[in-house]
Amino acid sequence: STNTITVIPGDGIGPDIVEATVKVLDAAGCNFNYDYADAGLAALANHGELMPESTLELIAKNPATLKGPLTTPIGTGFTSINVSLRKQFNLYANVRPVLSLKGTQARFDNVDIITVRENTEGMYSGAGQVISEDGLIAEAKSIITREGAERICTFAYELARKEGRKKVTAVHKANIMKTTSGLFLQVAREVAQRYPDIQSEEMIVDATCMKLVMDPSQFDVIVTTNLFGDILSDLCAGLVGGLGMAPGANIGEQSAIFEAVHGSAPDIAGQDLANPTALILGAIQMLEYLGMSEQAAKIRTAVQDTIASGENVTKDLGGNAGTKAFTDAIISRL
Ligand code: NAI
Ligand code: MG
Repeated sequence: STNTITVIPGDGIGPDIVEATVKVLDAAGCNFNYDYADAGLAALANHGELMPESTLELIAKNPATLKGPLTTPIGTGFTSINVSLRKQFNLYANVRPVLSLKGTQARFDNVDIITVRENTEGMYSGAGQVISEDGLIAEAKSIITREGAERICTFAYELARKEGRKKVTAVHKANIMKTTSGLFLQVAREVAQRYPDIQSEEMIVDATCMKLVMDPSQFDVIVTTNLFGDILSDLCAGLVGGLGMAPGANIGEQSAIFEAVHGSAPDIAGQDLANPTALILGAIQMLEYLGMSEQAAKIRTAVQDTIASGENVTKDLGGNAGTKAFTDAIISRL
């Protein structure tokens, strides 16, 4: 059967890395049809809004969306497109895998961690934001629901099972944030009971940071609430050489959006300089999600071998190839 996926080229280096990724998918025999859709600055120019209704319809229609980075204009009153997409499609799971690859600036050679971050609740729910009239007291509400905690923990364990992972670490601060983090931890323990085949561990967030930096090889799958997940997933990206190697998926019950973690890099846009690796790794996540593991594995090997060879790699990887030559080197291995 042929899957149709929605493709948003995005802004800045977006169109370049999206084109590279689509070429790689085609070369690996994925046999997709593509529904192209505008968002970001391109959409603002063509439709007068950053996220047109027609694009939202295409995201809703197809099983997955591959998305280039979008520039959110500053000082125009627009809220972040990424945040509004998350809300609109209830993309409750933010899944960020990091893997150290030979030939990169990775600080460790044995990192293979998936962070599963709850994407809709906690400190980022936006609830109860108040600042006193004299500006001296600010407050915000953190909300954790049993339903939300159970949904994200179950997601993490199911992912662990599907990907043959051994351990899930629930990260919390229940010793201090007794109600919110306490409820999350309690639910994490309950869900853990349902997965006796997977090792379960719990860890306080500050200790987790220290242990990640000292010996990341002890981690496998991490599941945590919104704010902790935001911070830990960037920390993990740093362990493997930065955001250029880090993909991310936003997954809900009905829709899923796959992207690179980095932004539109306006400083290098249109110069054939961008490294498409993060988005290609995002496409690999998409293939796994769609049950196309064979193609995912094929592409992963081609990317790893290309980067490890040190030849025809982009500037940020220490080479002097452009986006196109690097992509061709990957394709020649498929
Ligand atoms: P950025 O990630 O675009 O760039 C940071 C630095 O990393 C720049 O020097 C850039 O050249 C470099 N870089 C990023 N991706 C690269 C790649 N694939 N290959 C080689 N070098 C790369 O972050 P910045 O500059 O803070 O944000 C630029 C714009 O992107 C902003 O408008 C921001 O709102 C947007 N953004 C969008 C995101 C998304 O759509 N998911 C995520 C983050 C930022
Ligand atoms: Mg972040």
